[in-house]
Amino acid sequence: MEKNKKETLRSDRYRKYFCLPYLMGPNSVRLLDEMLDMCPLNFTTDNCVLDLGCGSGLTSLYLAMETGAKIYAADLWISEEDNRKRIEEWGVRDKIIPVHSGADDLPFDAGFFDAVVSMDAYHYFGGKENYFTEKILPFIKHGGTALICVPGIKAKYEGRREAYLGPWLGEETGLFKSTDEWKKLIGVHREIAEVKTWELFGFYTPWQEWFDTLHEYALRDKQFFDTVIRPFTCFVGIIVRKR
Ligand SMILES: C[S@@+](CC[C@H](N)C(=O)[O-])C[C@H]1O[C@@H](n2cnc3c(N)ncnc32)[C@H](O)[C@@H]1O
Repeated sequence: MEKNKKETLRSDRYRKYFCLPYLMGPNSVRLLDEMLDMCPLNFTTDNCVLDLGCGSGLTSLYLAMETGAKIYAADLWISEEDNRKRIEEWGVRDKIIPVHSGADDLPFDAGFFDAVVSMDAYHYFGGKENYFTEKILPFIKHGGTALICVPGIKAKYEGRREAYLGPWLGEETGLFKSTDEWKKLIGVHREIAEVKTWELFGFYTPWQEWFDTLHEYALRDKQFFDTVIRPFTCFVGIIVRKR
């Protein structure tokens, strides 16, 4: 456990879900806790939040319970039916709407969301110039926010990505970017008031809880923890505020 007094809070109440099939990587609920500390979202059911790349929907559950908003849980690899089943089991059918969709073609009206949240998913599709301003920004209301968290490379190792991360990530090495690289990629736009990127404090606990699942990918990641993941990587937080 990290020595972060804040970690005794909200996310601990969701411990029973920190297992398979809900976790799909380092525990995003822990990371989301920190993102919401940095940028609180206090909403009502009149507000809509998109959980983009929601996976099995665990972060959507957390967002629904902790922000009070109606959550649209959109994912590409996980079917709408699978997520609907889980949402019903959790008893939150009125709070979360599952959607099967790729991030490139979101089936929503412009300005529909008060916030777009994306945990451990955006690096798969969002690492291209103008992607944010063209594909995501239009769906956020004026005055709204995007909260994005991705695994990345620590700023000081940016130029050594292939050498340091290659043995672990192979073809996916390029997906891991630094805080500065993400800031540049989000870009400048007349409707963007502010972009903030930083390296999250949370690291060991999200990883340990992923390893504890004993998923075959977790076991492989664990083999690289001391040599690659711990020394060279971090989680990058991105907050974008729309005018
Ligand atoms: C590592 S999982 C993380 C899931 C969840 N956000 C979490 O943190 O537990 C990455 C997710 O990104 C989603 N994803 C990848 N490419 C996507 C795309 N183009 N559009 C929407 N979702 C995508 C996958 O479907 C997958 O569920």
